[in-house]
Amino acid sequence: MGGKPPTCDPDAQPDPADRDYAWPRRARVVVLVSGRGSNLQSLIDARCPIALALSNVPDTPALRRARAAGIPTHVIDHRAFPSRAAFDAALAERIDRPERADLVVLAGFMRVLGGDFTDRFAGRMINVHPSLLPAFPGLRTHERALAAGAATHGCTIHFVTQELDAGPVIARARVPVRPNDSAASLAARVLEREHRILTRAVHWFVTGRLRLHDGEARLDGRRIGDD
Ligand code: GRF
Repeated sequence: MGGKPPTCDPDAQPDPADRDYAWPRRARVVVLVSGRGSNLQSLIDARCPIALALSNVPDTPALRRARAAGIPTHVIDHRAFPSRAAFDAALAERIDRPERADLVVLAGFMRVLGGDFTDRFAGRMINVHPSLLPAFPGLRTHERALAAGAATHGCTIHFVTQELDAGPVIARARVPVRPNDSAASLAARVLEREHRILTRAVHWFVTGRLRLHDGEARLDGRRIGDD
């Protein structure tokens, strides 16, 4: 195959499959959420087969969205556990029950996961992060991008590794910062792009096109470029 290596902004690099996703029937996708659930909703709207929506927060909007779509939900409240390791173990156990999950999607899941957990799900867990990683890992990314005077902001989908917000990049979408942007207006434009690249990345994975290989994200066997 010739041409540029894949980098995955749907606007920069359209993929005919984006228009009407065809999903395999047997994929077990588990989505981890903590709050609003708009990324979960984008997967629901694309008719992604979600086996389970798991939350660490009881009665959160994300769970209501899942229930409205007929998706099984489960809550594992982190406050009920004596340690992070104990919480992680309960979460891992539920994700792989009754069958091993093919893919775990962190879609606004607001708990830091320990190394045993990230190792167990290595190569089958992805995260959506609201910045152009490696810029602005962590929280309050939109405020920090504005404070730093960034001309371009955006979002990233990456495989999850032990290091927070730092695994191999699968997709990035760039969003120009406007002179009069507030954190909220910038966040809203970034969020739209999150929804699109997350859905695309999940589809790539469950159709067997996307893999983590030797520490690199590969699409159709080719290393995904930085840009
Ligand atoms: C998104 O901006 C995501 O990138 C970040 O948390 C936010 C969750 O939003 N990790 P939602 O719950 O999917 O609406």
